[in-house]
Amino acid sequence: MDFHFENNTIKIIHQNKTFNLHPIWLRERLPGEKYFDLDTNQRLYEPSSIDLKLKIISCKLSDHKLDVEFNDGAQGQYHLDDLLIEMDGEKNKRGPLPKRILWNSQLEVIPQAIFEEDMVEKESMYNLLMDFYKYGFVIIKNVPTESKYLLKFVNSIGPVKVTNFGEYFDVMSKPNPNDLAYKPIALPPHTDNPYRKPEAPGIQFLHCLKNEVSGGFSTLVDGFSVAEYIKLNEPEAFESLTKTNLRYRFQDKDIILENWGELIELDKDGDYKQVRYSTRVDYVPPLESEKLESFYKARKLLGDLYTSSDFEIKFKLSPGDVMMFDNHRLLHGRTSYDSSEGARHLQGCYLEFDSTDGKLRHLHEKYHLSETNL
Ligand SMILES: [Fe+2]
Repeated sequence: MDFHFENNTIKIIHQNKTFNLHPIWLRERLPGEKYFDLDTNQRLYEPSSIDLKLKIISCKLSDHKLDVEFNDGAQGQYHLDDLLIEMDGEKNKRGPLPKRILWNSQLEVIPQAIFEEDMVEKESMYNLLMDFYKYGFVIIKNVPTESKYLLKFVNSIGPVKVTNFGEYFDVMSKPNPNDLAYKPIALPPHTDNPYRKPEAPGIQFLHCLKNEVSGGFSTLVDGFSVAEYIKLNEPEAFESLTKTNLRYRFQDKDIILENWGELIELDKDGDYKQVRYSTRVDYVPPLESEKLESFYKARKLLGDLYTSSDFEIKFKLSPGDVMMFDNHRLLHGRTSYDSSEGARHLQGCYLEFDSTDGKLRHLHEKYHLSETNL
C-alpha cells in the first residue's frame, strides 16, 4: 500500500491499482456518532446534501489511522483497513465469504460438520458455513432423527422458505405423487424448482431419517465446475448455454408456476451466478434454427457432463445425516431403490442465501474479524 496527499487529493495505491479518493466518497464514510447512529450503524444525514465542491483540507496517516479534515468543518479518523477492504474488488463483493473450491469426482474428502445443540452462535457453525460456501455443500452428522427436527435446526440459521409444497417435504415413495421424487425411481442430476419467482430456492436441506434400502445413493455434481470445463473447452457451447433464456413450468391442481433463466447464468462480472437444470420442466423458445441447433448440441454436452462419472460424487446418507447444498450451484439426484427392501425417508426444506450470508458475516465479525484487516 502506498499513500500520497497532494493538492487536496488523497492517492492510494493498493494491489497495483491507483485510487484517487473522491472527497465526497470519503466524507460520506466519515465515522463518528455525529454522522452515524451507534446502535444501527446507519447514517444520520442525507449524503446527497454534502457540498458537491467539498475539499479535503488536511490528511495525515499514522499507525493505520487516517485523520482527515474537510472544508465543510467535518473532521475525523478512519481506520485505513476499512477503506482498503472497499478497494479490494473481491473482498468488496464477497466480504468474508470464502473463494469457491470447484470439484469433480476426484473430490477426496466430503465436507462434514458434527451437529451440536444450539450451535448457531458457535464457531462450529462458522466452520460449517465456510465449508458450505467453499464446496457448495456440507454433510451435517448426528442430527437427531426426529420428524421435523430439521425445521428447528434450519430455523436457527434463518427462516425456512415456505413454498406451495409447505414448510417441508417428505421424500419417500407414495401413491399418486405430484413429483417424480416421490417414486422409488432413479432421479438424474437436477436443480430444484427453477420455475419459482424471484428465484429457485437457494439452499436445500435433506435430513435422512431412515435408509434401510441397499440402493438410494445420493448424488451431487458441481454445476460451476462443469460450467468451467465447458468454458475452457467448448466456448461455443458455453456461449449458447449462458445466452439462451428458457422457460420453466410447474403445474398441479392448485397452481401454475413459471419463470425464465439460462441453464448457466453469469453475473455482470462474468462470474457464475446460478445453474438451472430440470429437464422435465424446461422449454426453449422457438429461436432461429441455427441458434436452436447450437443450443441442442450444447445441452447434449451439458447433460453428458452432468451425468458423467468424471463429475458426479455418490454416497449413501445415514440416519441422522443432513445434506445441506447450494441449489444454485450443485445438481443433486439419487440412484433407484427397491421400496420392498425397507423404508427410505428423507425430510427436506429450503432456506435463502440472505440467512447464511448474513450469519456468516456475523460469525466472522464475532470470531475472525482481525484476519480480515490487512
Ligand atoms: Fe430435487
